[in-house]
Amino acid sequence: MDKLLIRGGTPLNGEVRISGAKNAALPILAATLLADSKCFISNVPHLQDITTMMALLGRMGVELVVDEKMNIEINSSQVHTCIAPYELVKTMRASILVLGPLLARFGEAHVSLPGGCAIGARPVNLHIKGLEAMGATIEVENGYISAKAPRLHGARLCMELVTVTGTENLMMAAALADGETIIENAAREPEVVDLARLLISMGAEVEGAGTDTIRIVGKPTLSGARHEVLPDRIESGTFLVAAAITGGKVKLRDTDPHLLDAVLAKLKETGAKITIGDNWIELDMEGRRPKAVDIHTAPYPAFPTDMQAQFSALNAVADGVATLRETIFENRFMHAQELQRMGANIQIEGNTAVIRGMKQLQAAPVMATDLRASASLVLAALVAQGETLVDRIYHIDRGYERIEEKLTQLGADIRRIRE
Ligand code: UD1
Repeated sequence: MDKLLIRGGTPLNGEVRISGAKNAALPILAATLLADSKCFISNVPHLQDITTMMALLGRMGVELVVDEKMNIEINSSQVHTCIAPYELVKTMRASILVLGPLLARFGEAHVSLPGGCAIGARPVNLHIKGLEAMGATIEVENGYISAKAPRLHGARLCMELVTVTGTENLMMAAALADGETIIENAAREPEVVDLARLLISMGAEVEGAGTDTIRIVGKPTLSGARHEVLPDRIESGTFLVAAAITGGKVKLRDTDPHLLDAVLAKLKETGAKITIGDNWIELDMEGRRPKAVDIHTAPYPAFPTDMQAQFSALNAVADGVATLRETIFENRFMHAQELQRMGANIQIEGNTAVIRGMKQLQAAPVMATDLRASASLVLAALVAQGETLVDRIYHIDRGYERIEEKLTQLGADIRRIRE
């Protein structure tokens, strides 16, 4: 298993290019199952989760041609099996995103039920309920969701909770359903909007993406389209925290500052000087120690749960006391115990963490537990005294493209140990 060895203490300085968004690319790749001609998808990040989604599509008979820049040509005209098997779904929960498109286009889908994961139970009941309201018959047997519907029909869907992949699954199904679907209490995440852009290019009628009510008018068939994936706002936020935590100055290229309002507001509160342009963000900490900032996670446009762990690391070395409330996932403080091993002062009660900033963290061997938790350990290691060894970094490879190369480019002392 690969590990990262990081020597802390260097303020980061320089420029880095932000990759395409993993959480946009995954539903977009799944949506290509809806098209009866070729799709061309660009700005796809080179990540383990993307490889898993491509493997999943490949098993079904989808033809994928990938060039060296991760431009992908996808032909879904020859799908021969509508199964998403356990061995792939267990490595990536977002595999559930093939359920809606398979069912809408081929009238059936057999998708392994994703289990719980490190950050919480994460059920998919709302995906299933929405598809049933559109006319699907769904049974859960032997660990698989077996769905059938000769033809889905539009429906009015009022979501009990805001769910990102739930909204995406239902949007994709609705794009090939008969009639109109209204999704109320829809997720407003930018990745939902990016998926809507693709569905519109394929010929579907979609209005309201980015608001809490999305209206979709399905079409009998959808055609292939060209699409460029939007920049990754979580990777952007992670590199900005890396600059802030080390007292450095970093410019992000090929990003979109407007996707990061809540995160940029919090970074300004830490004392960072932030300048933005159309597609770039520069953060300058001017060598200062960040001030502690309170965090309350909630669906977009509020502060993202996917940035909570990174701000835990920042608060661990900040000046002052911060309270972090996690409202999306019930068990998303796994990184706290590892940060404590590096000397962080963190107290957890229920869904709240109280962090008292320390002047200095110390290096220690630590273990990544999930994707964003592993990012927080890397961030803490960048300022810790000594050499930190981060184990189980396959989690980080699921969501960060070439993280050690990008950090090295910014002056960090980090290297991958292959085992
Ligand atoms: C997506 C993101 C993930 C992010 C999360 C919240 C992708 C691939 N992943 O995950 O990075 O952390 O949004 O912003 O885009 N829920 C139910 N029943 C359901 C569905 C969800 O109870 O059927 C609950 C979940 O357990 C959770 C909450 O709703 O507590 C939100 O989860 P959801 O938005 O669905 O997360 P994902 O789409 O899995």
